[in-house]
Amino acid sequence: MTTGSNHPSFPRGFAWGAATAAYQIEGAVAEDGRTPSIWDTFSHVPGKVANGDTGDTAIDHYHRFREDVRTMAEIGLTAYRFSLSWSRLRPTGRGPANERALDFYRALVDELLDHGITPVATLYHWDLPQELEDEGGWADRDTAYHFADYAALAARALGDRVSTWTTLNEPWCSAFLGYGSGVHAPGRTDPADALRAAHHLNLGHGLAVGALREVLPTDAQLAVSLNLHAVRPRTTHPDDLEAARRIEAVGNRIFTSPLFKGRYDDDLLADTAHLVKWDALVHAGDLAEISRPIDLLGLNYYNPTVVSSAANAGDLPRNDGHGASAHSPWPGAEDVAFHLANDRLTAMGWPIDPTGLSDSLLSLYREFGVPLLVTENGAAFEDTVAPDGTVHDPERTAYLHDHLAAVSDAIAGGADVRGYFLWSLMDNFEWAYGYEKRFGIVHVDYDTLVRTPKTSARWYSDVIRRGGLA
Ligand code: FCB
Repeated sequence: MTTGSNHPSFPRGFAWGAATAAYQIEGAVAEDGRTPSIWDTFSHVPGKVANGDTGDTAIDHYHRFREDVRTMAEIGLTAYRFSLSWSRLRPTGRGPANERALDFYRALVDELLDHGITPVATLYHWDLPQELEDEGGWADRDTAYHFADYAALAARALGDRVSTWTTLNEPWCSAFLGYGSGVHAPGRTDPADALRAAHHLNLGHGLAVGALREVLPTDAQLAVSLNLHAVRPRTTHPDDLEAARRIEAVGNRIFTSPLFKGRYDDDLLADTAHLVKWDALVHAGDLAEISRPIDLLGLNYYNPTVVSSAANAGDLPRNDGHGASAHSPWPGAEDVAFHLANDRLTAMGWPIDPTGLSDSLLSLYREFGVPLLVTENGAAFEDTVAPDGTVHDPERTAYLHDHLAAVSDAIAGGADVRGYFLWSLMDNFEWAYGYEKRFGIVHVDYDTLVRTPKTSARWYSDVIRRGGLA
């Protein structure tokens, strides 16, 4: 079916969304019983975050959520993906629920529902309670069980009004940037711990799915959001193909194979055998837990990943886009070189290439047959505020347009894609980059916290009203 435009239409009921995450927007880090998460600790370590920025206040969404939901309604969003703060809902990571936190999230969800916006809750967007990190964090198996308990607690409190849940956001980043390269909290740099963390995140996901199914109504939709790398070998040289295989193994299949096939792939186990004893790490029954069926797979996509063997890298610029560190986030694939796919870069230095999104959606759907959501996609640019207060961001609009066109191409090619959540609704705390990088379609003045929709927000409104691209 076509709309008369160059782009096939999006299916009826397609979710037109935007995404945020708790630590990036909420602030109020010491209010109403919340205890510190690993990002509170990490952001306060000098040198870890640009300009010494922290999420202490962030954009004060905790106090301004009603205004923010009004903005979403004005844009016309039909869905909103946000994350729950574990250490707010369950201070210290264990024990009873914090009623004041439940009140906050219930009020947020009710406000969304009153405005006809479907809430999509992410249980874990990188903010592990610090007390659990002190006991070993994700490198420790117990954390997976604590996560499932917290998931059940959150679902008991909100399951009457939230029906779509994603367990983890980008476990690759949690494991490999958090415990491998150390550019994210908790800032540890041990490749073996990074692999342990990856398995325990997978296990935590599976245990949480089991716990959520027990608590939630049968029509609840359960998902996980993965930043699967759209890996491309730079040449067809066998060494470059081998580099691509390694990155696919430790970047993608370390999550998708246990999730959808109930196994870790032999090549991954071989590549990393010198680092961990997988037989001891993976207990009997773990893979059955991890491969519990889910209803949707969330894909977070920003740019393709072009790789070669280090020997074939030459003088080309090398960049895996994940921040500078003396420690690799790629255990067992440390000798792979990363290249820019092209030189059309966002302010993050990430190349713009929407074909990676359509390719990924099509290949995921072909391989796993699971309905898909794009749970993140977007771009940072150097936005400027005009003297009249407007923020004109044509580059972001073009990025979003071209990536939505890629989603529609994937749908036309047969992929079952149910929604698109752009990153991000509002400018916010961009992890190790602090407030330097702006991804929002709504501008935030960090002195006054005044929100101003950018022209990309007006454009998105039109897309949503039309139900597709012009
Ligand atoms: C993703 C994160 C999200 C945001 C975007 C730019 O990796 O999930 O919180 O930082 O990148």
